[in-house]
Amino acid sequence: MSAELSERPALHYWDAFWDHRPAECPCDQDFVHWLDDREVRDSAIFHFGTGGHHHVGVECARPDRRNAVLGITAAPQEHDTFVKLAIERPDVLRHYNVSFGDIYLLNRRLLPVFDIVTLFHLCEFRGEKNDAYGAMTDLEVTNLLTDHLRPGGHVLFFPGSYAWDRADNSAKDVVSAWAAERDVEEIGRWRSLLVYRKRGSRTDLLQP
Ligand SMILES: C[S@@+](CC[C@H](N)C(=O)[O-])C[C@H]1O[C@@H](n2cnc3c(N)ncnc32)[C@H](O)[C@@H]1O
Repeated sequence: MSAELSERPALHYWDAFWDHRPAECPCDQDFVHWLDDREVRDSAIFHFGTGGHHHVGVECARPDRRNAVLGITAAPQEHDTFVKLAIERPDVLRHYNVSFGDIYLLNRRLLPVFDIVTLFHLCEFRGEKNDAYGAMTDLEVTNLLTDHLRPGGHVLFFPGSYAWDRADNSAKDVVSAWAAERDVEEIGRWRSLLVYRKRGSRTDLLQP
């Protein structure tokens, strides 16, 4: 490898595997219940942090839900279980795709318009290693995904996250700043989740 290549900062990936532990981290389970409570069907969902269990994708793909989910994971091990799932369950793959990568590197040209965006793990995993390759901030990624949300669509956060109200770079502060910048309204808490709705009559996709 050339000296130039070896000095290039590597991706800040997650060298871990998160199995389904709803007692500890109820966000994915509550999200599926929220979808059912609102009878959300045939929708397009962006899901930050799939876990290795892919609960949201598998549940959303059920014939009685048919919600299309684009998930993202920064853990190679979790992406491996998605590949296995896709091979075993084409019925799930029809509705569920998972991108391996860093959410802070999302490219707006590759994003469709979503009905719902989940940002349960905002501020949990971003730091200097992401700065090293010029990744977006938590606020920038929240704004970007809001721009790709249809008017009337929902963004859901997880106040149970350890990053929600910590001293520095808290998700709560990012959400406050975002709510001041974007045309969104707080709907309120639903179980472990905090729900916002995008107002407005256009998708704002043309904003820089
Ligand atoms: C603690 S696990 C929670 C998984 C699942 N939402 C749950 O509650 O069971 C955190 C998830 O966030 C993902 N993640 C962490 N940093 C990320 C990043 N920068 N971009 C995309 N996904 C990331 C991890 O790969 C993992 O799937």
